[in-house]
Amino acid sequence: MDTRQTEEATTQEHGQHNNQHNQHNQELAEKDRRYVWHAMARHTEDGPPAPMMVESGQGAWVTDTAGNRYLDGMSGLWCVNAGYGREELAKAAYDQLVKLPYYPLTGSHEPAVELGEKLNRWLDPSGQSEYVIFYSNSGSEANETAFKIARQYHEQNGQTDRWKFVSRYRAYHGNGFGSLAATGQAQRKYRYEPLAPGFLHVQPPDTYRCEYCGGRAAGNECGKDCAVRYARQIERVILYELPETVAAVIMEPIITGGGVITPPQDYMAEVRRICDETGVLLISDEVICGFGRTGENFGFQNYLGSGNKENAPDIVTMAKGITSGYLPLSATAVKREIYEAFAGTGLYDNLRHVNTFGGNPAACALAVKNLEVMEKEELPKRSKEMGEKLYEELEEIKDHPNVGDLRHRGLLFGIEMVEDKQSGAPSQEKTAALLAACKKRGLIAGKNGDTVAGYNNIVALSPPLSLTGEDLEFISGTLKETVADL
Ligand SMILES: Cc1ncc(COP(=O)(O)O)c(C=O)c1O
Repeated sequence: MDTRQTEEATTQEHGQHNNQHNQHNQELAEKDRRYVWHAMARHTEDGPPAPMMVESGQGAWVTDTAGNRYLDGMSGLWCVNAGYGREELAKAAYDQLVKLPYYPLTGSHEPAVELGEKLNRWLDPSGQSEYVIFYSNSGSEANETAFKIARQYHEQNGQTDRWKFVSRYRAYHGNGFGSLAATGQAQRKYRYEPLAPGFLHVQPPDTYRCEYCGGRAAGNECGKDCAVRYARQIERVILYELPETVAAVIMEPIITGGGVITPPQDYMAEVRRICDETGVLLISDEVICGFGRTGENFGFQNYLGSGNKENAPDIVTMAKGITSGYLPLSATAVKREIYEAFAGTGLYDNLRHVNTFGGNPAACALAVKNLEVMEKEELPKRSKEMGEKLYEELEEIKDHPNVGDLRHRGLLFGIEMVEDKQSGAPSQEKTAALLAACKKRGLIAGKNGDTVAGYNNIVALSPPLSLTGEDLEFISGTLKETVADL
């Protein structure tokens, strides 16, 4: 064959390969419609809209089966903190799977112990507080575990009526009958109720539309006064209900999926104080805020400090970023004093709680490696620095009439879309338009979908903490262009 013939043959082979690839993708999409029920998705008699079929990921980017590349500004579901394509994480899991793929934590194995020690260093680098870790598979389960522990802890101490939980409207805590009951999003609960009883809700702080000072919508920043007044709402519910009936307050340091609602600086410390005064435990839900997302190891450290044993939450729940989403794993970290209350020889003194897969050895080994990578690359610090930089870059979008608020902590961003600045009326239409236009330009952003009626208007960004300077430019450039075109 001469050179021309060779080129023709190669082109033909390419064509055939492309055809096969396209046919395979079509079949895959068809089977997807038949066999997979997608999270949160709507569908009609014609079937669901075709979801994005993702094939691979590298760094902050994912590629779909049609070969389109997107910067994943949501790290999947707020979880791929160390970025895609880390072979050392896959290898850590592989090596462990070969050595010991499974053993339940009714017994023990080295990766669970190693991870427990590491999580303690992340929770309190000073080593003052000590946490004992119960492993599960998802954030929901981590919270369910926390609720059971909190109730039994009080029982163990003779406070047998402490069974209620206080949480905030707008926050998400999971999909189980307890964790969904704790969730303050009516649109996630409707048609599944009644859920577990005993879960009470209060208004969260809203520094954009503050009911006390008017908030940023009125050109004001909430100070200590607002923080105290919002925290008082929790105190009031505890007092009205009688403190001796309340087991715990559960809160995310920053409400994430509910709309990236950043609180006034002093709010969480005030809640801590109220919990101490009323004998109520404080559970920090760090499922998203943990593992560097907010610029600290854990979200609570932004507000309660790090290495302050008294101030630290009593229970910390975590999932997602613990493995950067590479394998399912979650944890409920409990202060040693709480664990100690379960000591005893009584028939029911032990925590009678087990899950088959929680603390799987490969997931734990992968999590240890993930945390080593985050330490080596100082990803929490990077999140803080890159977050500041991205905020500076994006600040000009605040002038747009449909952008009510831009807020962030580390690489956790919320952009509140409004009809106009005067009314501040939430605009779901502009939110949807912004997301669609970003995606067309290759940027995946998120929003708070199906949360609180009328307030599903916050565009979220939560990119991998490992993103490069170029990635950051791409995010800010794309958003600025897209907002300008609205
Ligand atoms: C704050 C928070 N808590 C709990 C959960 C539940 O986690 P999972 O989906 O892993 O059950 C989520 C999930 O998004 C979350 O954002």
